[in-house]
Amino acid sequence: MTVEKLFIEGPNKLAGEIAVHGAKNSVLPILAASMLCGAGCVLHNCPVLSDVETAMRILRHLGCRVERSGSSVFVDPTGMDRDDIPDCLMREMRSSIVFLGAIISRAGSAHLSFPGGCELGPRPIDLHLAALRRMGAVIRENHGCLDCSAPEGLHGARISLSFPSVGATENVMIAASRADGTTVISNAAREPEICDLADFLRQCGAEISGDGESTIVIEGVPALGGCEHRVIPDRIAASTFLAAAAATNGRLLLTGVNPLHLSPVLPVFEEAGCRLRCWENRMEIKAPPRLRPIKGIRTMPYPGFPTDSQAPVMAMACLAEGTSVFVENIFESRYKHAGELLRLGANIKVEGRVAVVEGVKRLSGAPVEAPDLRGGAALVIAGLAAEGLTEVSGLRHIDRGYEHFTESLAGAGASICRR
Ligand code: EPZ
Repeated sequence: MTVEKLFIEGPNKLAGEIAVHGAKNSVLPILAASMLCGAGCVLHNCPVLSDVETAMRILRHLGCRVERSGSSVFVDPTGMDRDDIPDCLMREMRSSIVFLGAIISRAGSAHLSFPGGCELGPRPIDLHLAALRRMGAVIRENHGCLDCSAPEGLHGARISLSFPSVGATENVMIAASRADGTTVISNAAREPEICDLADFLRQCGAEISGDGESTIVIEGVPALGGCEHRVIPDRIAASTFLAAAAATNGRLLLTGVNPLHLSPVLPVFEEAGCRLRCWENRMEIKAPPRLRPIKGIRTMPYPGFPTDSQAPVMAMACLAEGTSVFVENIFESRYKHAGELLRLGANIKVEGRVAVVEGVKRLSGAPVEAPDLRGGAALVIAGLAAEGLTEVSGLRHIDRGYEHFTESLAGAGASICRR
């Protein structure tokens, strides 16, 4: 099997313009929700990513018709005739658990395997299962499989999440949209992707309010129609490109972004000495000659600093003039990129949830391996700034969440190619 790698020659200032693709973490739950529509849906601004392709394969396996035309995806769920997700597809994408509520609601039953752990540590689904059980689902967990049924259909319930889980909030919103009665989610996730899912469901006729806040109310309706929806921009991809510009003392114009969704991360770039200018759907970053350190980054649920931006920002902090401190509060093993960054000359110490980054004057190129999606992006960022050649392998991780990553960076002046 041929192994593809990225070859990056640095250091190279990024200068130019990058168009940011649609949000992966919005497309996935919206594709799951489309199963509940009584007519076809068209989703615009859908990035070509392996996770999105996997989600489309799951829908096709279930009997839906799914077609892609450029960045638009058409789903006709009316032919759905199955209620299971094969193990191979579950293993390919842990977040397939977000299909569970939709399948139970649509088919009255569901059979899928337990999503295994992943690079970020165990991915428990206890909050998903407890919530769906309160809505009337009977879920048996045996031999690594989830066998679910809802003989009397799903009904509204009061759901209080012990943690504002993004996936669990999405699963409940989807399952509740056609349940019998009212569902109230307390301590709901507040990410922009939650609001985007709510917008999609409302356009199909669902009655949802409070999305974006900690309490969401869903009045179940008997049926949903189809709709045409444009997916929000990917705020994590945007923060990745901002970190790339900052790390390379560059100047970038990002188009097709929503600066409001980036409000948890922009202060970090300003603290590092970058100058930011924002317009309605564009933003520009100009990096200082030498980055200042970031005193304390704690990843938190939205509107806190996003865990997905931790790795890219750590890559940038490696070159700051001073010590930056990170605390990863969301996932228990999300510092795998630190070891690879050390190979490029970074100075990082990890103690449990805390990572201390001592900035260095320069990084030097080396062969590195992407440990996961955002860690892979961090290694590319460091490679852009490192002196000499950096080879990045493990591209299947990066392809899950970044569309045209190499082309976008090369178009902004990076010396990067994929072979
Ligand atoms: C979503 O994952 C995103 N994925 C993740 O992005 C993101 O990192 C995460 O939210 C946090 O923002 C998608 O949207 C497809 P959670 P999700 O449920 O829903 C614990 C990326 O890089 N938890 O909010 O799985 C869990 O272990 C990916 O694009 C439970 O304990 O995140 C974790 O520690 C990576 N029990 C924390 O909550 C549960 O039932 C946050 O998980 C569910 C979650």
